[in-house]
Amino acid sequence: MSERTIRIGLAGLGTVGGGVAKLLDRHRDLLAQRCGARLEVGAVFARDRAKRRDLPLAGVRWHESPEALASDPQVDVVVELIGGSDGVARTLVEAALRVGKPVVTANKALIAHHGTALARLAEASKTTLSFEASVAGGIPTIKALREGLAGNRIGAVHGILNGTCNYILTEMQEGVRAGKPREFADVLAESQRLGYAEADPTMDIDGHDAAHKLAILTSVAFGCAVDLKSVHVEGIRHISAVDIEYAMTLGYRIKLLCVSRSAAGGILQRVHPAMVSERSPIAHVDGVFNAVVTQGDFVGPSVFEGRGAGEGPTASAVVADLVDLARGLRVPCFGVPVDRLTTLPPVPMAHHVGAYYIRLMVVDRPGVIADVAACLRDEQVSVESMLQRSRNPGEAVPVVLTTHDASEASLTRALATIARLGTVLEPPRMIRIESL
Ligand SMILES: NC(=O)c1ccc[n+]([C@@H]2O[C@H](COP(=O)([O-])OP(=O)(O)OC[C@H]3O[C@@H](n4cnc5c(N)ncnc54)[C@H](OP(=O)(O)O)[C@@H]3O)[C@@H](O)[C@H]2O)c1
Repeated sequence: MSERTIRIGLAGLGTVGGGVAKLLDRHRDLLAQRCGARLEVGAVFARDRAKRRDLPLAGVRWHESPEALASDPQVDVVVELIGGSDGVARTLVEAALRVGKPVVTANKALIAHHGTALARLAEASKTTLSFEASVAGGIPTIKALREGLAGNRIGAVHGILNGTCNYILTEMQEGVRAGKPREFADVLAESQRLGYAEADPTMDIDGHDAAHKLAILTSVAFGCAVDLKSVHVEGIRHISAVDIEYAMTLGYRIKLLCVSRSAAGGILQRVHPAMVSERSPIAHVDGVFNAVVTQGDFVGPSVFEGRGAGEGPTASAVVADLVDLARGLRVPCFGVPVDRLTTLPPVPMAHHVGAYYIRLMVVDRPGVIADVAACLRDEQVSVESMLQRSRNPGEAVPVVLTTHDASEASLTRALATIARLGTVLEPPRMIRIESL
């Protein structure tokens, strides 16, 4: 019996597109056995036709526009691996869905910005939109939440979703451990030289890439429309070696944490550096690795860890979506049909309640700590511990405080008052302490 062939239109032949071409070539027979169909790249589209690529794409048709690839009658499924929330990638995905062709993409920016509208378009055209590779690279998080955990009500999802930030924070931690503390800018520059950080690292280090991924995960976990603009986002630029050192002294590790939690009838989505207990599983997710922890009401916590980016892991996730398609597995892309997605009211960050680490640079003289404590007391923020490394009286000295649970709004007001004290020499540094 002759096997079916599923003809792929591959757009983008960079890191991920190249990885997909290689994986499909190397596992040609294995995939045919698993799918009962051959997965073959029939046509491609990228920016520069003359570029030397060294990919197994001999004899494959080249298209000059996204529309031409989408409308090619010899293409059964479009794989978008170009990137960007708008422009060519969006044009291609919309054109393919409009003519009823399934789309597989790794593009988190596109799904975070336009996911709900694109899912609606896919449903209207009776086709599918798949984006496993858009969150946590090779870790099958979307599938786990949407299918493996479908029997549970999900209370919270948290994780480490940006490998660049995790690499930088891990290197800073290793520097402290080795007695050679390194500052953020130094480690970032080295990460760029090694290719772990982009030439323009803004999307990664300011938390926006992680926010895209969290917004997508939130939608799948809670069955709500993707709501990127409600994600509270802070990056890791202000983390210094001294904070890493104090965190380790206090039994914590600093991570760029992504958290989505249902609260007070709404949902709070946040991306920010956080201190997590050195005993939590997430504290040991180091380097470029990602992790996602889900909390289901029947299953309890589930931990997923693996490589969150790179040619191989991301291609693995893209091809998993292609295999689902070939097997005829169809599920609503966010777990429920678009008209049943809810719109959960966003809970503002000011309503967050948790513990805090505060680092101050103060003049070492009597009464300074009492003044700081009074500012906290006036906002009902209670101090749990204090660390002060004394120097000579009259000199600047760092003071570190940790608090019991307090509301973010109260803490923010207290810090504003502390910053105005004449004895506080630098703006206070605050890092949230997360009990996971
Ligand atoms: N890299 C990762 O580890 C990773 C992980 C998860 C998700 N993703 C996502 O996967 C997607 C692709 O990422 P990547 O790292 O593979 O990017 P990349 O290496 O920069 O490759 C981008 C590809 O898109 C093509 N392209 C760019 N602009 C184009 C345009 N205007 N018209 C036509 N083609 C254009 C490029 O063509 P030329 O080759 O001709 O320049 C290139 O082949 C992005 O959405 C990214 O967020 C990446």
